[in-house]
Amino acid sequence: MLDVQRGDLVAAVVGSGTMGRGIVQVLAQCGVRTLVFDAKTGAGQAAKDSIAQALGKLAEKGRLKPSDVTAALGRIEVVGALEALSPAHLVVEAIIEQLEPKRELFRALEAVVREDCILASNTSSLSITAMAAACRKPGRVAGYHYFNPVPVMKVVEVIAGELTEPWVVEALAALAKRYGHTPVRCKDTPGFVVNHAGRGYIPEALRVLVEGVADFATIDRILVDAAGFRLGPFGLMDLVGLDVNQSVHKSLFEQYFQEPKYRPSYLLEPRVAAGLLGRKSGRGWYVYGKDGTAEKVPEQPVPLEKASNVWVASNAPALRELLSKLGATVESGAKPSADAICFVAPLGQDATTTALQLSIDPARTVAVDPIFGFAKRRTLMTTPVTRPETRDAAHALLASDDVHVSVIHDSSGFVAQRVVAHIVNVGCDIVQQRVASPADLDAAVMLGLGYPRGPLAMGDAIGAAKMLTVLEAMHSFYQDPRYRPSPWLKRRARLGVSLLTPE
Ligand SMILES: NC(=O)c1ccc[n+]([C@@H]2O[C@H](COP(=O)([O-])OP(=O)(O)OC[C@H]3O[C@@H](n4cnc5c(N)ncnc54)[C@H](O)[C@@H]3O)[C@@H](O)[C@H]2O)c1
Repeated sequence: MLDVQRGDLVAAVVGSGTMGRGIVQVLAQCGVRTLVFDAKTGAGQAAKDSIAQALGKLAEKGRLKPSDVTAALGRIEVVGALEALSPAHLVVEAIIEQLEPKRELFRALEAVVREDCILASNTSSLSITAMAAACRKPGRVAGYHYFNPVPVMKVVEVIAGELTEPWVVEALAALAKRYGHTPVRCKDTPGFVVNHAGRGYIPEALRVLVEGVADFATIDRILVDAAGFRLGPFGLMDLVGLDVNQSVHKSLFEQYFQEPKYRPSYLLEPRVAAGLLGRKSGRGWYVYGKDGTAEKVPEQPVPLEKASNVWVASNAPALRELLSKLGATVESGAKPSADAICFVAPLGQDATTTALQLSIDPARTVAVDPIFGFAKRRTLMTTPVTRPETRDAAHALLASDDVHVSVIHDSSGFVAQRVVAHIVNVGCDIVQQRVASPADLDAAVMLGLGYPRGPLAMGDAIGAAKMLTVLEAMHSFYQDPRYRPSPWLKRRARLGVSLLTPE
């Protein structure tokens, strides 16, 4: 096994574009002599210059000592030929994202480097095994997938191909710790961990939009305020680029042989064709001003007349308490009186199904999402026949303590329940398929996608049994295999144990 702590460790980075220069920076900063090669003349030096600039800025802000900047830059050696990489103990490639050039590079490197030199690829989407197959010694090849910008995104996926030797994975993981990144070990599967887990959030939000449940800004607000995401799915699409999003969605869906859980939305294609790419084109879902800020989409106006007489389904004590605190007269009977507005709080079911099951009048029924608390935003859902005056009175009542209310059309799982349930379900499949360990999955998603919790901890916070109820209700309503619960979730929910329980 390579001792990555050794003082004379030599690394090499091939390809010094956006990613390569970030990788060079973290290696050099942690004390590793780093050789840099780029096929384009001058590109290696340009990368070193930009690293010097970045480190200089850090020193100006007092976050680095000037002597550390000098030392780090002194460890970076730009070389003019692949042959100069012969002293390397490991080579990380960050060249163009195409299989054949990467295979060719590894083949050429094998003729240059030592017999036990690790060959690692920063590919986001190509098979590590297919790259290794071009090598004499495929056991030394692994994936080493960083995120942009490398010095800021402190996670790296360490990917084992079919023939990767365990010591290679261990050495790369130990090296990641040396420069302060969290290594996440995973199998060579499409999307690895982070891009695979990312199939939950945006695609399900697009489904909600396609169904006409709510507009994009309402969906974003619910997921930020109620479910606690830093950025709504539509704001996130604008940041990453709708074109980039669509191509990742399509590629993952095809690589998983059209698994319905990963089905992309037809909504993005025409928007991409129209040039609505997101922040980079000035308009995506939101419209951006010259200074890059999004134009505000106004909140739904709050009606004046609030409900006074309400009935609340018996399984919703927290909602009953809230409405009573807001000044409503809450009926105590098992059935509503003739003029009461009926409040229900289903898990996974829509308002229509719930009203029919409880034998209450769907025209007087509204539903409130009970899962995410009522503190920051409340989601109010109608049946297709809920009277507008009933909806407005319920809205006014719910907003009467100045908490925002989002009014949506009927949806099995409201907005937040179904999006979170889908994220949890996709996460459960990832660990069920042994792509990564439960702890590694959650760490990767928090660090790589910036979610408030990993998918498994997210499910645990709500309760695995509740998550299963939501998914089963959605599955039964939509009859879509997309929502079939993962075996990992089913077993842990039935056993009453944490979703992080490994086996
Ligand atoms: N940009 C990202 O956000 C991101 C994130 C994770 C992974 N990746 C992956 O990292 C790799 C590099 O991406 P990037 O965004 O840095 O690309 P880039 O275009 O910014 O840089 C690629 C560099 O590689 C050089 N190059 C191309 N072919 C070469 C060869 N055969 N030998 C030596 N140098 C060669 C180019 O001259 C260029 O400087 C790709 O595999 C990409 O999928 C990118």
